[in-house]
Amino acid sequence: MRKKNIVVVGFQWGDEGKGKIVDLLAKDADIVARYQGGNNAGHTVVSGDLSLVFRLVPSGILNDKKICILGNGVVIDPMVLLEELNTLREIGINIKDRFFISYKSHIIMPYHKRLDIARERLRGAGMIGTTGRGIGPTYEDKVARLGIRVADLFDRDLLYEKIALSLKEKNYLFKNILGEEVFNPDDLIEKYLEYGTKIKEFLIDSSSYINKKLEDGLNIMLEGAQGTFLDVDHGTYPYVTSSNTVAGSALSGVGLGPTKIDEVIGITKAYTTRVGEGYFPTELKGKAGSLIRDKGEEFGSVTGRPRRCGWFDINLIKEAKRLNGATGMVITKLDVLSGLEKINICTGYMLNGSVIDHLPYSVADYKKIIPVYKEMPGWEGEISNIKSFNDLPVNSRKYILKIEELTGLPVNIISVGKERTQTITLKSIF
Ligand code: IMP
Repeated sequence: MRKKNIVVVGFQWGDEGKGKIVDLLAKDADIVARYQGGNNAGHTVVSGDLSLVFRLVPSGILNDKKICILGNGVVIDPMVLLEELNTLREIGINIKDRFFISYKSHIIMPYHKRLDIARERLRGAGMIGTTGRGIGPTYEDKVARLGIRVADLFDRDLLYEKIALSLKEKNYLFKNILGEEVFNPDDLIEKYLEYGTKIKEFLIDSSSYINKKLEDGLNIMLEGAQGTFLDVDHGTYPYVTSSNTVAGSALSGVGLGPTKIDEVIGITKAYTTRVGEGYFPTELKGKAGSLIRDKGEEFGSVTGRPRRCGWFDINLIKEAKRLNGATGMVITKLDVLSGLEKINICTGYMLNGSVIDHLPYSVADYKKIIPVYKEMPGWEGEISNIKSFNDLPVNSRKYILKIEELTGLPVNIISVGKERTQTITLKSIF
């Protein structure tokens, strides 16, 4: 029987703890690939004394027998990538012949970053709260057919022409609307040619490479960045990122067909967090929110921004299950809820006098909805070293079983701490 190919996605607004889980699951996958996003993502992986934050390279990179790929759907800031590769080399992780980049991936240029930050300023109170890494403008250029791809970094004339073309409109914006310095292609060309030289050894066509490896009997785990509700189509638009984050996008993001995928696993925290602006029905603004934030160390791993915290939301997870075609789920940070006297689960929203079991369709309705909660009793004590479901405090088990029941999705794994070992497996995924 052939080995399973899986997609792992965030079920909320990102930061669900995908890094640890992907790293853990990587032991059963020959290839780990990213399919969208860029260094707006940040995943912390802890192994023994080592705690590393990756922004670009797939979390599986620490498993030194695994092949790690950045697919064509990923946007790459070469400076950030080279820094990460250097860190890996410094700590003795071998990346030769096991780390690859699609030659079709788009490059984040300095003007994308400047545009991202200046646009946010222009939006004022309506800002998205982006990470300021140039992600949106890079995807805009891709779709506008003005993007620079990795493959363009090797021909001086072609690269120069492409940068100049992309800057025609942008320099007008910078000068006349955004009050920013303009860019001169002459100041960029050498640096980006040099980046090209430094990353050349890693280039592949992710589609042909991966398909060939699957034919040879290897399997793949496709690692989503951000989360379902930051998806540009299905998320809480306009407070989203600029790529499709859902599992369907995993396929186009590396060049694989849908028939190759066996399982889709959603990662969710045992509560909910969100960073940046935008709708968040179960947000806790008062003391309970800061209690969870402090205990869960809920501060952005890339930007350090405090994350907004709230109760677990069944509507969100049911929708994520449908949007991703999920077959199972992983619940992370259950330990953070230990010690709370009562825990709420949002089971629906009250809208105009009736309860709805989905996210509002209209932006205006987000302001009107009132979450409906089922109160669950909390549990005491440290659970981080518990290794089996049956040893968990009875109320924490009830909490997990209630989530399974209300979402109709099996829980495969529960994470109860940062370490790889602080994990309880209920049902195997591979
Ligand atoms: P951008 O992706 O930098 O354009 O930011 C758009 C929105 O997505 C903002 O609300 C960011 O805070 C959010 N975002 C982007 N990447 C992540 C992530 O990895 N985790 C959580 N939120 C993210």
